[in-house]
Formats: sequence, structure tokens, C-alpha cells
Amino acid sequence: MAEIRLDVQSSLGTYPVVIDADVSGRLPPLFAGLGLGRDLVVVSCPPVWRVHGEIWRPLLGKTPAVLIPDGERAKTLQSVARIYDALVKCGADRSTTLVAFGGGIVGDVAGFAAATYLRGLRLVQVPTTLLAQVDSAIGGKVGVNLAAGKNLVGAFYPPALVACDPSLLGSLPRREFRAGLYEVVKYGVIASRSLFERVAASLPALFARDGDTLTALIAECCRIKANVVMEDEREGGVRRILNFGHTVGHALEAVTRYRRFRHGEAIAYGMMAASEIARARTVLAQADRDALWQAIAHLGPLPPVIDLKIADALAAIGHDKKVVAGTLHFVLPTSIGTTTIVNDVQSKELRAAMRAIGMR
Ligand code: GLY
Repeated sequence: MAEIRLDVQSSLGTYPVVIDADVSGRLPPLFAGLGLGRDLVVVSCPPVWRVHGEIWRPLLGKTPAVLIPDGERAKTLQSVARIYDALVKCGADRSTTLVAFGGGIVGDVAGFAAATYLRGLRLVQVPTTLLAQVDSAIGGKVGVNLAAGKNLVGAFYPPALVACDPSLLGSLPRREFRAGLYEVVKYGVIASRSLFERVAASLPALFARDGDTLTALIAECCRIKANVVMEDEREGGVRRILNFGHTVGHALEAVTRYRRFRHGEAIAYGMMAASEIARARTVLAQADRDALWQAIAHLGPLPPVIDLKIADALAAIGHDKKVVAGTLHFVLPTSIGTTTIVNDVQSKELRAAMRAIGMR
């Protein structure tokens, strides 16, 4: 399949998102074409660098990458400080381009370092997980967690380029891949019934990591995300729909101290909870609620929630950054393909929804 290229307008100019199963073999001309120069610092994590680090040889020679640990628990200011130290050591200046080569954590942490070092280095995102290719690499959200909560420190810092290579997903562990598919389901629910149906219809090809199937699917998600962030880069309105499933999802991650769930898995539960609230309010048809629960079930097992206390999750939601001036903005699906944002979801409804997903 030929390269798919989308142009995303942002506050820092227009940047391309290139989706192509060969793009990691064409990085030098791509970088040169965008005037990105050869003064690069690549940030990655050990498992990705071990398997795919070779693709940077034409641009870096034997220069090592800055490796930060993987996992939500490494999304910290300490990891950012490690990148700052490496930038100081190699004499980075404003002509340096920082490349985030990894999953969502690497993208967020390296992106925050790029946004803040010398008040901003050019940033390139080369995502290596499905979740990062369809979501976190696009739109400029970068940042880290604090002990008090997720993503509490960060910036909106659009990249200069996003290069998504579906062939890099071949080495992704199955669970990690599935976690990305939940995010694809999310795009279906918020914006496209046909995308939602396509996931279910293409599961064998997707799990076989078929290049064309993945390229088309990733491009569709990127298109949806690009349209949303072009309309509302700083999440003042419509961008909030991308947080579908995130209120309960983030709470589940927080109460399990980021150890139990992949982000996409927690979002899967969050989408189930949100659809249950929408069904109970009769803004979502029972059939659509069931279709979503079924789509999630078809992707495979989720970690258990039976031992998690609803009261703890409710307390965590109180800390969530989606509470703006004391108001919880909650994304509810109104069909497969449309949502509404409400700010009157009551604890009673959240409790019932969490019971429905199996918490106690
Ligand atoms: N992942 C949600 C957003 O980028 O807004």
C-alpha cells in the first residue's frame, strides 16, 4: 500500500503524519525534506532499541540513543531529567531535533523534554506501539505524572513530524497490541461506526499484523484524531471526546498504582463504564452498549477488577485532571459513532457503572 500522508495544522505550523509500512527505511530523505537536519538526539527505551535501533544507523551512525525505562511508572520528571542531562552532555542547541522512538511513555516524556529544553527543540515522533501510532504521537500532548496524579505536568507541544511504520508493530507483544486495539475501538465509538465495524471484521488480519490492513486502520484513526486536534488543539471543547473512557480508566490505573493495566486495557473498562451510564440514562441504545461490550470482549481477556474498591476509584476520580473548576466533564456515547459531553454525572451513576464492570 502506498504511503498515506496527512497534514495537521497546529499552533507551531503544519506538520505531516506519514503512515507507511516502509517509512522507517526512508527516514534520512524524510528528515532532509523537512529541513530537520542531522543533529539528532533519539530517545527510546531498551526493548525497542534492542529490536529496532538499527533503523537509526543511517542518521546516527553508532551514536547511542538516550534510553529511559518503559512503563507508566517511568513517566516521571526523573526520566525527563535524564534526557536533559544527555542533551547537556552532547551540547544540544536550538538546531537539535529530539526524536521520540517508542511507545506512548517515551513520546510523552521525550516530548516534554523537547518542549522545555532551551524553551523548545524540534520534536519528531516515531511511535512503535499501536496505541502511540493511532493516538498519543499526534496532537502535541506531552507530559509526565506526579505522585498526586497522571499527566499533571505537561504541555501542548506539536511535533514537526510523526512517522508511523506499521511494520514496527510486528514485534509488539500481543497484549500490548490488543491494548492499542481498544483505542481503535474508541475512535470507532466517538467518530465512525464503519471503523468500529471494520475492527471486528478484520481481527484475523490485524492479529496477523497484516501491513495493508494496519496501514488503512491506523490512517483512519490518525485522520479522526487530526481533525479533532485541528479544531481544538488545547482541549477547550471537542478534543475532550478523545477522553472517552478515560475518567474511570485513569481511576483504575491510579488505584492499581499503574501496575496492573496497560493504558488501553484501563480505557476499555472506562468505555464499558461510560456506555453503561449512557444506557442507564437512555441516551444510548441497549444494542449499541452491547455491541461495544462485545467488541471489547472479542479482543481478548482484560485484567480482573473484582478486587478493586469502587470507593477508592471514586476518590481517584476526584483527583483527575478532567475535573475543571470542580466540574467533571464526562464523555458519553450516544450511538456507535457519536458522543456527548456532560458535566452532571453523579457518584451514584458512577458507582452503578463500576458495579456493572465487575468492581465491588
Ligand atoms: N489522547 C487524548 C488526546 O490526545 O487528547
